[in-house]
Amino acid sequence: MTRTYRRISPVAENYPASSIRKMFNLALDFPDAVKLTVGEPDFNTPEHIKAAGIRAIENDNTRYVANAGIPELRSAIARKYSRRWDRGIGPENVMVSFGAMEALTFALDVTVSPGEEVIIPDPSFPNYMGQVHRLGGVAVSVPVREENDFKLRAEDVRDAVTDRTAAVIINSPSNPLGSVMDRTELEQIAELADERGFTIISDEVYDQMVFDDAVFTSIAEVRPDFDRFLAIGSFSKTYAMTGWRCGFVIGAEDFIAPMSLLQEGLTSSLPGFVQEAAVAAIEGPQTDVDRMVSSYAERREILIDRINAIDGLSVVRPEATFYAFVNVKKWGLSSWELAIALLENHNLATIPGSAFGPAGEGYLRLTFAVSPETINTACDRLEAFAAGR
Ligand SMILES: Cc1ncc(COP(=O)(O)O)c(C=O)c1O
Repeated sequence: MTRTYRRISPVAENYPASSIRKMFNLALDFPDAVKLTVGEPDFNTPEHIKAAGIRAIENDNTRYVANAGIPELRSAIARKYSRRWDRGIGPENVMVSFGAMEALTFALDVTVSPGEEVIIPDPSFPNYMGQVHRLGGVAVSVPVREENDFKLRAEDVRDAVTDRTAAVIINSPSNPLGSVMDRTELEQIAELADERGFTIISDEVYDQMVFDDAVFTSIAEVRPDFDRFLAIGSFSKTYAMTGWRCGFVIGAEDFIAPMSLLQEGLTSSLPGFVQEAAVAAIEGPQTDVDRMVSSYAERREILIDRINAIDGLSVVRPEATFYAFVNVKKWGLSSWELAIALLENHNLATIPGSAFGPAGEGYLRLTFAVSPETINTACDRLEAFAAGR
């Protein structure tokens, strides 16, 4: 049989384009625009972490290192999460990855086969959809509703589970919703995972960016004997290290062990000097983390107060992260139309809610990891839009 002639594979040809990136690119034509689009801390990496990375280069840690990560980093992560979760985590339970993005790749690779279903919250981080597509999996959406304070419900997950469900991705604290899942819902989803035999891939990259009034529970904490999970973490947000590209995944050893083999064929390993900086992040003073989180909390107040005072807008108070998911339904435009109008007429860049899935229609995601002045200017522009309607 002859092969059908083509140049580009269907996976590449049909890869779902990120609307966040699309908005980002559009905003490039408006260099003076006020931007509430970026999903990263506005702080620089703390000095002692940078110094550890520089020292490691000077000490010639510039060669290939172990596929699964340097032992010092795997152990440091294991110690940190043993403490946080009050359960025994060893280095064999930890795989170091190129950011949470590659952790997600590994988690899906070891749990999902082509044709199997992966449940994804809607709205959620758009790369989930892309990664499931890359793998030849079938993404199945479950709605996360504003009337539930944007918290994923176990009953909605239950309704979406079939015999083909291989994994359920959850993301608490959530980008773009700023919500934290309730412990009881997590417990029920864990029970369902045991009952139906799927794995929970829990993206917890904002686990330390939680404000005073909220309690975050990791999937690892629901029951000491629950092990059908892979918890994804990252240095990007907690330690303001997005460009270092250092993340990790924690789980049962039978999930983690094959990831080393996959890494050998993907990138071999993360740079050793990046990993040494990551060790310093965990083992050094945590005062910078506290300072950054307090600062996001203050900026949340400014944004929320201003948004709720604008005619036609409302927002569920984010409990975590640096995102607010603002309801713009009363303004009557689609989220794309509104985002474009704000950009073109008011020099304000935002992310349309539909970038995070169909259930995000009628919302805009605003980042408050920007200066208070920027937040105020952005809100002045939203007010001007409201006045001009
Ligand atoms: C929910 C979520 N998961 C994963 C990531 C990726 O993080 P990393 O920089 O560690 O790859 C992001 C980044 O924005 C995110 O918001």
